Amino acid sequence: MGSDPAVKFSLGSGPGLRIPAHLGVIMDGNGRWAQARGKRRTEGHVEGVKALRNLVELCITYRVGYLTVFSFSSENWARPPEEVSFIFNLLRRFVASDLQRLIRNNVRVRIVGSRNGLDASLIRLIDDVEAQTAHNTGLVLVVAFNYGGKTEIVDAIKTLARRVADGELSPEHINADMVESALYTAGIPDPDLIIRTSGEQRLSNFLLWQAAYSEFVFIPENWPDFDEACFLRVLEEYSLRDRRFGGIGAAAH
Ligand code: FPP
Repeated sequence: MGSDPAVKFSLGSGPGLRIPAHLGVIMDGNGRWAQARGKRRTEGHVEGVKALRNLVELCITYRVGYLTVFSFSSENWARPPEEVSFIFNLLRRFVASDLQRLIRNNVRVRIVGSRNGLDASLIRLIDDVEAQTAHNTGLVLVVAFNYGGKTEIVDAIKTLARRVADGELSPEHINADMVESALYTAGIPDPDLIIRTSGEQRLSNFLLWQAAYSEFVFIPENWPDFDEACFLRVLEEYSLRDRRFGGIGAAAH
């Protein structure tokens, strides 16, 4: 998306903050949070859901347009099967406990990722959540679940290749817009800002295509400790960034 869609939002008596139109979050460090407290890793994931619920409320309050959270990566299948099934059940429980509240708050939910490997009841649940919130016009909560950026791009290539094979499209006419329309995130603007918690500084296959011009902020707190103070600190840092999108920036004109 060529132009900067971010808006300025003035915080009461506080300083003006630049609010990203689309915020991406890699919620990392649930396991370490739990281990540091002598708890099971799964308890860290339970606390992680609370931090996510809190972040959704913050995004509504501060008028973030889109929030994308990385909740299960296609690489997370390598974890012990009990942990994988726990995270799957967490999605079911999150939907059961929060769907009505999300609807009341005018939140639209999209769940992006591969459907491969998901059982039929989970696919029905995902379709149902998306359908029940499809007409909401407030925050768009994008849950990246069974998501991997490389697989998403490969799937997009397959979609376009099928159109070429069917004679609908010639290879010379393929452009970035067509690729974007074939991604799981079609119709969602690129993230302006991506946050990763727990001190790790990498993208780990999250929104590879979409992050081309995203700003990144890495913070040391583990995900369950992410609160409003962290959120504001990150936004303050983001507000200072000069986003040039390959150009020369406002200050140089
Ligand atoms: C990273 O912590 C977190 C995950 C793999 C995702 C877990 C799920 C949530 C935060 C809750 C939201 C989920 C849904 C389904 C709505 P980690 O386990 O990688 O932590 P570590 O790096 O310390 O081991």
